[in-house]
Amino acid sequence: MAPGAAGAADAGAGSDADAVRATWEALTDVERTALAVVFWRARAAETVTDPATGAPLFSDPLAAAAVARCIPAEAAAGMEARNKAGVDRIGWMGVRTGEIDRRVAEAAAEAAAVGAGAGAGAGAAGAAGAAEAASTAVAAGAGAEAPPLQVAILGAGLDARAWRLAWPARVAVFEADTAPMLALKRRVFAGFGLHPSVAARREVACDLRDTAALASGLAAAGHRPEAPTVWLLEGLIGYLTRAEALGLLQALWRASAPGSRAVVTAPPSEGDRREAEAEGLELHHSTFEEAPETMERARAAGWEGRIVSRDELAARYGVARAQALLLLRKQ
Ligand SMILES: C[S@@+](CC[C@H](N)C(=O)[O-])C[C@H]1O[C@@H](n2cnc3c(N)ncnc32)[C@H](O)[C@@H]1O
Repeated sequence: MAPGAAGAADAGAGSDADAVRATWEALTDVERTALAVVFWRARAAETVTDPATGAPLFSDPLAAAAVARCIPAEAAAGMEARNKAGVDRIGWMGVRTGEIDRRVAEAAAEAAAVGAGAGAGAGAAGAAGAAEAASTAVAAGAGAEAPPLQVAILGAGLDARAWRLAWPARVAVFEADTAPMLALKRRVFAGFGLHPSVAARREVACDLRDTAALASGLAAAGHRPEAPTVWLLEGLIGYLTRAEALGLLQALWRASAPGSRAVVTAPPSEGDRREAEAEGLELHHSTFEEAPETMERARAAGWEGRIVSRDELAARYGVARAQALLLLRKQ
């Protein structure tokens, strides 16, 4: 995927139909997948509930704002129609979003605890993690100076976690995507008037196939490889070739202090590809494979970890389809 021209996607973050169409048309096919995701996420936020409590699985008002400002009415209608064709994309995205919220919180708590145990001093991005356990670890391990914790969202698209999750003080979130996507996000989210819920949010505009550019972009944004990082790759790795994905996973491992974690969604499978073809739906992925193949690649890059399978997630949340997650760690 070639990142588009910086600034082109800035065109029209307003709600007028022409501006919305200009925004949509300025993006590449792969960048536009972030808008499809946010469409399903906005719908899921309205409807998908936690089976254990009956409460909404998550809330994401920025997703609805992004839909209104970036997706032309006819494209939105097409997406809605695809859900009605019998494939529960709303449930799929709801489970993916809610489960990743939970897994990122766990990973942040674990990474913060490791950082506290290592006696790390305060840095660019001190944090207690995203759960009570993390706050406890920080209080016990670092006194007044919280240990550094960094969360890096790669292929961030319109992910609103830096705004909508209840982060404790002093987490830094790094968001990497193409320059046009980051510019679009800045305009759309700023226009909505919410402030990030993290102490620091930093952007890294780069092509994620270029690991040297990612490393220098992270360094320039203040990322510190000696402090634990929680990496989130949601809906990204399938857009890379197998070799590019291996290179990225290796680069992340190198940039990770012990105690770092990664949460990675598996690419679509060959079955997903056949299903999409049967629907007449064009996918823009480079890799189609089962989660164990992706996990082999992560292990080859140095990561340890496990898979949360699609069947496990579908059964836990009572949905027809789910996307496998890889939960990775560096000891
Ligand atoms: C399916 S969207 C997922 C967005 C976000 N993670 C979410 O779940 O809401 C894929 C995102 O990855 C980004 N992306 C894909 N390939 C990329 C690359 N080579 N370099 C930078 N960003 C890339 C796209 O621009 C897009 O924002």
